[in-house]
Amino acid sequence: MTKPAKPFVKWVGGKSKLIPEISKLIPNKINNYYEPFMGGGALFFELSNKKLITNHSYINDINKKLMNCYEIIKQDPDSLIKLLKNIEKEYKKLNLDNQKKYFYQIRQEYNQNSLDNLTYCAYLIFLNKTCFNGMYRENSKGEYNIPFGDQPNPTICDVGNIQAVSHTLHDTHITSTSFEESIKTCKKSDFIYFDPPYYPLNTTANFTNYSKNNFTFKEQIKLSETFKQLHQKGCFVMLSNSNTDFIRKLYQPFNIHEVYSARSINSKGEKRGKIKELIITSY
Ligand SMILES: C[S@@+](CC[C@H](N)C(=O)[O-])C[C@H]1O[C@@H](n2cnc3c(N)ncnc32)[C@H](O)[C@@H]1O
Repeated sequence: MTKPAKPFVKWVGGKSKLIPEISKLIPNKINNYYEPFMGGGALFFELSNKKLITNHSYINDINKKLMNCYEIIKQDPDSLIKLLKNIEKEYKKLNLDNQKKYFYQIRQEYNQNSLDNLTYCAYLIFLNKTCFNGMYRENSKGEYNIPFGDQPNPTICDVGNIQAVSHTLHDTHITSTSFEESIKTCKKSDFIYFDPPYYPLNTTANFTNYSKNNFTFKEQIKLSETFKQLHQKGCFVMLSNSNTDFIRKLYQPFNIHEVYSARSINSKGEKRGKIKELIITSY
């Protein structure tokens, strides 16, 4: 029997720590499941492991290199495992200085846009496991720019989890497009979970760049309109976002739940801790 699948990358805004709160609010029965801002996909794996999705799953993220990983893991986990095992073996033979050089060499190749899809997938996972704080961020040119992480003994190839993720994805639809495009096939009684880049807590805070596409307040407004349209269609819609007046106003007619989340990624260690977030449901 395969073990439960879990996110194969650590992702900024990952929802693993919020799963107990989100689980209390999901509908009793899920027909088709849509996750348009997939990232690491913590909720998708939770619902799949618990067999709560009775029909198909549709996962999407605008980050093409990330969604390529889902596609590779779905279709060819064995080749990925082989390649990652080789990378892990090479990397672990090196001393810290040379590991650092190896990391920057891989990062440079990753940013040159000339690799095959399997190698892109392996490199994304390698960089995620060995970079600073396990983050993913791209600059305005779309280049991955997180520095080396200096981690003592990272697991680069988690064979059991890659196999479990592959098994979970076997009849999942995988796309890489905008959130609006990805929900076009939604029908009455489908469940959609939106986990967009959060609206900043204060106006001076920068938006987090997950990919070269910024998610501005205009996108937040477009998303709230999409939320309303899906609700009118008879879908069950859930969304997480920051606890701000702007977001509260956008979703005023809906059910707004306050939850506490332990922030797992913050560059300033002393700012780690519990902050209030919002989960909004249409039902
Ligand atoms: C908060 S993260 C999702 C975290 C995820 N739920 C998890 O558990 O790891 C937001 C994601 O939205 C994606 N994104 C940003 N703009 C988008 C857009 N316009 N359409 C679809 N996805 C987008 C980013 O690439 C990022 O992965």
